Amino acid sequence: MTHKLLLLAGDGIGPEIMAEVKALIDWMNAEGIGSFECEDGLVGGAAYDAEGVAVSDATMDKALASDAVLFGAVGGPKWDGVPYEVRPEAGLLRLRKDLGLFANLRPAICYPALADASSLKRDVVEGLDVLIVRELTGGVYFGEPKEIKDLGNGQKRAIDTQIYDTYEIERIVRVACDLARTRQKRVTSMEKRNVMKSGLLWNEVATRIAGEYPDITLDHVLADAGGMQLVRWPKQFDVIVTDNLFGDMLSDVAAMLTGSLGMLPSASLGAPDQATGRRKAMYEPVHGSAPDIAGTEVANPIAMFASFGMALRYSFGMISEADKLDQAIADVLDEGLRTRDILPRGGGNGLTEVGTKGMGQAIRERFLKLM
Ligand code: NAI
Ligand code: MG
Repeated sequence: MTHKLLLLAGDGIGPEIMAEVKALIDWMNAEGIGSFECEDGLVGGAAYDAEGVAVSDATMDKALASDAVLFGAVGGPKWDGVPYEVRPEAGLLRLRKDLGLFANLRPAICYPALADASSLKRDVVEGLDVLIVRELTGGVYFGEPKEIKDLGNGQKRAIDTQIYDTYEIERIVRVACDLARTRQKRVTSMEKRNVMKSGLLWNEVATRIAGEYPDITLDHVLADAGGMQLVRWPKQFDVIVTDNLFGDMLSDVAAMLTGSLGMLPSASLGAPDQATGRRKAMYEPVHGSAPDIAGTEVANPIAMFASFGMALRYSFGMISEADKLDQAIADVLDEGLRTRDILPRGGGNGLTEVGTKGMGQAIRERFLKLM
């Protein structure tokens, strides 16, 4: 089966790190490790400069027709002054919305070689592998009314509204339970049922849905206590499922346990297609376009490789290849290769600084050796 990929490199370091992954895909095609058909598209500032929008209808059609979208990063000071509707980030939001990507997967994995880069002690983070599943299209970021009212007495009132319907909770909890089945079979649901109605419903629905999965253990933890536990002993968690707002914060906290922004991948999944069972999906690094280092060939491509690894795992069912790509990343780190962002200040014993291309080449070679 041929997998159709749309590559949206975007701005800043986006094209630099995407080129490294594209070289891997070309290599895999040549070696007969899967069969991929890649198309390129414009997004973000690059699309604005060429087409006057952050993502064009034609690119959206390509995204809808693809099996998965690989997204680099968008934005940068060059587009600071452009109108709100066509700012680079609007391209990302449209892709998420039009593809119906309601489930955001943010793994926090601590590579042993980088455990000392964490702000926590090595034994707390070494071997950490937590997956945060964040609801992405509902909750307080989207609920109406959403406004700032002038009360006319020198006061204003700001209103955001948290809304969750049963079906929104059902489908995100199902994603979490399905993923847990491929892992340690434990799901922790986080909400604030003690002070929020949406938390009460979330708790009730999560319990019911998890009941459909007799092999899965479900725990409920209040989201604030969950934040504490994530920092105290993160290895107690396997899969965490939570709403949009709590997920935004908790996934950033979990991410930083592992060291550098340049290491962190993410996936955003939609509903399964009725006929094929296949989900719309977009894979992207957590970091932005890093304009401060763009064009200098020092960007860390690992988050982009790991994002492609998630595509192999979650969109293409290429589990063994995904495992080997993750292993290749761990191996080159064990061998001491470091891009500048993960190099300890003042260097380090047995460590070698490499650029974007050097890291890309090393990961590809290691991966092919493992295949
Ligand atoms: P950023 O993530 O681009 O950079 C933060 C810091 O981390 C910078 O010092 C950067 O050099 C470093 N960094 C990030 N990725 C790296 C990598 N792969 N290798 C080495 N170092 C890396 O966040 P920032 O600076 O707040 O935003 C820059 C631009 O990116 C803005 O226009 C922002 O709106 C946009 N942005 C886009 C996102 C996306 O496309 N998903 C997400 C976050 C920000
Ligand atoms: Mg965030």
